Amino acid sequence: MKNIVILISGSGSNMAAIAKTAKRDDWAGQFDARVACVISNRAQASGLKLARDMGIATETIDHQTYPNREAFDQALARCIAPFDLAEHPALVVLAGFMRILTPGFVAHFSGRLLNIHPSLLPAFPGLQTHQRALDAGCKLAGATVHQVTAELDHGKILAQAAVPVLPGDTAERLAARVLSQEHLIYPAAIADLLRSL
Ligand code: GRF
Repeated sequence: MKNIVILISGSGSNMAAIAKTAKRDDWAGQFDARVACVISNRAQASGLKLARDMGIATETIDHQTYPNREAFDQALARCIAPFDLAEHPALVVLAGFMRILTPGFVAHFSGRLLNIHPSLLPAFPGLQTHQRALDAGCKLAGATVHQVTAELDHGKILAQAAVPVLPGDTAERLAARVLSQEHLIYPAAIADLLRSL
């Protein structure tokens, strides 16, 4: 069976959308795939409870307890290893995971490491995307699912959704409108990838 390992740092709403879609659309039957584990770098991430409530195994690897990025990423890779089978390499899905991964980690999971970013890449990589889109006077905003490469918020684009920027929008209102689309395109992009494996 192909294992999907989801990395989170916070509320985990994308993780929950993926796990719910996996169940609703029977990814086990369709693709021989399952959401096997959710890993957070923050013990207080509320997404951990969401995952446990859905019967998904969880792990916390607190980045603050490691001396550097390499040591943290090695611990992360060790945690993923039991789900990463030679005949069925794991899919590693970043969903609001607020850590920059080392080139070694990215290379190891190359082609099966995905991220969702709340902008229409290549516009606005990095943080504060919604405020930056408002400040730039954008009429459209959105989200992008992409392959992860060593360069932050780059990599092959797998899916995008655009939403209108409305008069009087705040970063929070725009973020909520974008997030509701993230919950649709991320599971769909993962299903497409599983179909092609
Ligand atoms: C999303 O907006 C995602 O695009 C960004 O971080 C947020 C995570 O939200 N990378 P959640 O934890 O999935 O609710």
